[in-house]
Amino acid sequence: MDMTEHASQLATRAATGVAALEARDITKSLPLGRERIEILRGISLRVAHGEFLAIMGPSGSGKSTLLGIIAGLDNPTTGQVWIDGVDITRMGEARLAAIRNTKIGMVYQAFNLIPTLTAQENVEVPLYVGTHAGSPAARARDLLRLVGLEHRLGNRPTQLSGGEQQRVAVARALATNPAIVIMDEPTGNLDQKNSENVLQMIRDLRGATGTTFIIATHDPNVAAAAQRAIRIVDGLIATDAA
Ligand SMILES: Nc1ncnc2c1ncn2[C@@H]1O[C@H](COP(=O)(O)OP(=O)(O)OP(=O)(O)O)[C@@H](O)[C@H]1O
Ligand SMILES: [Mg+2]
Repeated sequence: MDMTEHASQLATRAATGVAALEARDITKSLPLGRERIEILRGISLRVAHGEFLAIMGPSGSGKSTLLGIIAGLDNPTTGQVWIDGVDITRMGEARLAAIRNTKIGMVYQAFNLIPTLTAQENVEVPLYVGTHAGSPAARARDLLRLVGLEHRLGNRPTQLSGGEQQRVAVARALATNPAIVIMDEPTGNLDQKNSENVLQMIRDLRGATGTTFIIATHDPNVAAAAQRAIRIVDGLIATDAA
């Protein structure tokens, strides 16, 4: 699928009024010894198609936990999550995997690259799952060029710096042209120049495709680039500002 076709699909979706993401009353608690700790205490959130949302808040406030739940990687204790109008809460693993592969791109706080594969192969992986148009190798090279790693295609993660691994993770998240890109501290290990590159990529993609971005960040530059920022404190949304 080319960028124009992708953009028109996203525009059609945006016009239907169905949110890219809707989370209702999400709680998450985990056993800790005899007690239970409440990590998320009732989060409701609606993100429109094409929106760029930053999630801020202190370390330990629940940002990564929330991202894992909205990406379908973890179940909430109570509450529901809809991705593009489809309830993913307690969905079977096979259907959920298909939704994650086609609709969601994820950059993890710890990049989660596959250590035995090269940078290029890591970016190709999501393209070998399900059916995607075009050549995985060519798409992976294009994306790695976009993040400035055309000279590192054959390197494995251990042969890359932290910032380079992060850029491979960003390229991998974008491989399938997902409608929603979820990023956990995408600029956390980057210097100013590479942070600016990642932000510029986000701006370009938003301009070209209308992709929705949901990004947990401590980086004020990322928050400033977002249209809306929510602040999570102690598992609750403390502020939500456009
Ligand atoms: N598997 C787990 N078992 C017990 N406690 C956990 C577990 N995972 C996370 N927590 C706790 O839940 C809280 C929220 O963690 P989370 O990783 O969501 O925070 P965060 O906002 O992403 O923080 P940071 O900004 O440091 O990345 C923390 O207090 C953490 O210790
Ligand atoms: Mg985190």
